[in-house]
Amino acid sequence: MADNLSNVLARLGEARILPVVELDTSEAALPLAKALMAGGLPVAEITFRSEAAADSIGILRERIPEMLVGAGTVLDIEQVEQAHRAGSQFVVTPGFNPAVVEACLETGLPVLPGINNPTGVERALGFGLDAVKFFPAEASGGVPFLKALSGPYPFVRFVPTGGIGPDNLGDYLALPNVLACGGSWIVSPTLVRASRFDEVARLAGEAVALAARNA
Ligand code: 3PG
Repeated sequence: MADNLSNVLARLGEARILPVVELDTSEAALPLAKALMAGGLPVAEITFRSEAAADSIGILRERIPEMLVGAGTVLDIEQVEQAHRAGSQFVVTPGFNPAVVEACLETGLPVLPGINNPTGVERALGFGLDAVKFFPAEASGGVPFLKALSGPYPFVRFVPTGGIGPDNLGDYLALPNVLACGGSWIVSPTLVRASRFDEVARLAGEAVALAARNA
């Protein structure tokens, strides 16, 4: 688990951006992932907000093994099991659910639990986790919050998500305690439904270029 987790964190730290993806059907998974790869983003968080999540993860793991594929919006133990069976390489949760975190630890599945206050950080530390999702980032204090938390927790790394886009991505990535930023702006469900994968690739490329300027 520790090796898996550090490997996943290293890959997220290299990508610097974690596209949050919601798919209506698993048929969209492959073209979508190819568009992200074409834009320079070999990583995706497929959310369990749709029935297509587990199948989509399975397809991507089989067809694009070089991509880092995680499961997002994981809310219960059953979804942890589904994500694991599908081959998910990590799990992201919006809030801190100890049962879900425990299930991930037992399964050996790296987990980034969501927190938005110091109590959440310390709960994560209590489970041996020093990397967390910060959600919903903008609504919970954004950049000033992360700066404030670097005082007591200089060793904790955050993946802020929620309200992040091209206009504020650079501000977050400039913070030393930000590992990567998550967000749905690259893969909006509207673009996927319209099969506008070229636009997804363009947005991914734009985000990668922005991240490079804040490396
Ligand atoms: C998530 O599940 O991580 C968020 O819904 C993503 O937030 P965003 O849509 O504001 O990027």
